[in-house]
Amino acid sequence: MIGILGLSGSLRAGSYNTALLRNAAELVPAGARVEQASIRGIPLYDGDDELRGEIPPAVQALKDRIVANQALLIVTPEYNNSMPGVAKNAIDWLSRPSSDIARVFRDRVVGIIGASPGARGSALAQVAWLPVLRTLGTRPWFGGTLYVANAGKAFDAAGRLVDEGDRDRLRRYLEGFVEYITQMETLR
Ligand code: FNR
Repeated sequence: MIGILGLSGSLRAGSYNTALLRNAAELVPAGARVEQASIRGIPLYDGDDELRGEIPPAVQALKDRIVANQALLIVTPEYNNSMPGVAKNAIDWLSRPSSDIARVFRDRVVGIIGASPGARGSALAQVAWLPVLRTLGTRPWFGGTLYVANAGKAFDAAGRLVDEGDRDRLRRYLEGFVEYITQMETLR
């Protein structure tokens, strides 16, 4: 079984990105599963805490969940044409201490998808993540893209993607992603 840790970059109860993650957990192909994770509880990064060896429990727990899975799927909102600060802060904490980067991130397959009420569906936020993923030594999957635009209309009240085209695109994204994770696992 291929395990994917899906991380929503939004704290909002009605988040389109958290809803997209739930849809991904439903539509992931057989033989893989998406475990849904949140950035809730991760405090603002403070270098003094790190110096004292005080890694917040929420950070430690999320690191362990990433490590327990084969891949990471970041589901990102877009703020001011980039990723939200709260989401970047979470990844920054997860990358500390730097001696733990190899365990948590190096060679980890990472996918990025996202949703926004705008016409570009979080495309600029997804691009903004690329230097971060490169710096952490991950293996981003570039074989597919998923931008859910006009998110206010794309989900129903229960957070389900309503358009069969969107659901198909998400299904195909996940199929390609899982295929790549499987290939990378055979190389280990
Ligand atoms: C936004 N939003 C937004 N949307 C977008 O497509 N491009 C953008 O540059 C921005 N900028 C932006 C800045 C800030 C500070 C906020 C709060 C919002 C709108 C954003 O996409 C919308 O709030 C989404 O609903 C956020 O994602 P979640 O919380 O629904 O997952």
